[in-house]
Parts: sequence; structure tokens; C-alpha cells
Amino acid sequence: MSKLRLAVMVSGGGTNLQSILDACVSGRIDAEVAVVLCNVADAYALERARQTGVPGVYVPAGRKSGTVEWEAADAEHLRLLAQYGVELICMAGYMRRLGPMVYQAYQGRVLNIHPALLPSFMGAHGQRDAVEYGVPISGCTVHFADEQFDTGPVIIQAAVPVLPGDDEASLGARILMQEHRIYPQAIQWYAQGRLRVEGRRVIVEKAPPPTMAEAIISPGLETR
Ligand code: GAR
Repeated sequence: MSKLRLAVMVSGGGTNLQSILDACVSGRIDAEVAVVLCNVADAYALERARQTGVPGVYVPAGRKSGTVEWEAADAEHLRLLAQYGVELICMAGYMRRLGPMVYQAYQGRVLNIHPALLPSFMGAHGQRDAVEYGVPISGCTVHFADEQFDTGPVIIQAAVPVLPGDDEASLGARILMQEHRIYPQAIQWYAQGRLRVEGRRVIVEKAPPPTMAEAIISPGLETR
């Protein structure tokens, strides 16, 4: 059986990219990374792609929608996605919006990971915003992406406590560990054809029960 061909879109260090590459190699997901697309020329994610022998392509992408640079990136993305026979796009720390041509061609075939429990703390600073707001629980979300930011139907979430003294970096590291667990899982469900979207709800066929039996409560309840 041929493997699902992924494009992983990145802007930074690429630890999520690495978890996806590793899961492809170990057979945890029935997919292969066909190409890595990156909008930052010297991002370490591109080095990770190189070390694994996966093509990594730098595509400068404008910040503002509607600009010439942004539209050029949209067209170039579409060209590369076709060239590499990509079937599913996985944004993994990609800090730009994809363009309308890509979304049109890949309707229902774009995933994103976000470092907060959506719809809380949308945007580019999910970890920092959670710390500043003072919530005792945050986490991460894998969702189908649409043309808005961070709004598509949610596939899977993991919650972690925000501990006293946490800052953006320490909370971010705790969340990242969970990102590396849930993103490969979501991709595998997609590869297995087990995801069905009904309105805002994503149904995972034969979904296992939640890992926590009841609830994550933070700070914890005292027993006596
Ligand atoms: C991850 O925490 C990811 O959730 C976040 O960027 C980080 C990338 O880390 N994405 C966003 O904030 C998107 N709004 P990585 O490069 O090590 O995978």
C-alpha cells in the first residue's frame, strides 16, 4: 500500500517536524514526508529535513494577506505541493497564513498544531498568553486548518498544568512534549481514513477512550 505523502510546513526549530519524521520511520504513522516547506531561510527545521534526506525548500512568504509576496508564496506552495505529490499538509510551527489557492486545492487536507487548548489563546503566542492570563491548565490542539487563524475543527487535545513559576519557555517545553505525542497520532488517524468532520465536530472512528480516566485538575484536589 502506498504511503500518504505529507508536506510539513515550518518556520523554526522543527521539533514537531522531527516527531513526524521519526514516527514515519518507526512505522507509527503510515505516511512519508515528501517535502518540508519553510519560510525562514536559516531555520533549523531545514537542517532536520536535510539530515533525514527529505527535500526542504525555502519559500519566502509575506506576512500580510493580499500582498504580492503573499500571493507569490501561495502560487509557489501550490506548485511545490503538486511537484511532490502531496496529499496532506501539516503545519508544524508555521507562523504564516497559507493562501487561498492552497486552501482551495487542499480543502479538508490541511492540519495545524497550536500550543494552547483552542479556542483559548489563539494566535502566535499561545504559551505566553496562557501564562499571562494565569490559567492553571493549558495544552495543545491539533485541528483541521481553514483560512482563518486557529479556528478549524479540533481533532485531538492534550492538557498540561501550568505550574507556579512557569514562564513562556518552561510551559512551552511541557506543552511541546505533548505536541510530539498528539500530532503523529492525528496524522495516523487521517492516514487510516478514521477522521470524519460533522460541522464543528471531528469524529474519530473507533477512538480510544481518553488517556486520563476522569479529569486533569490543577492545582490538584487534596485528599483527606
Ligand atoms: C510549537 O509549539 C507549535 O505548536 C507552535 O510553534 C511551535 C513550533 O515548534 N505553533 C504555533 O504557535 C502556531 N500558531 P517546533 O518548530 O519545535 O515544532
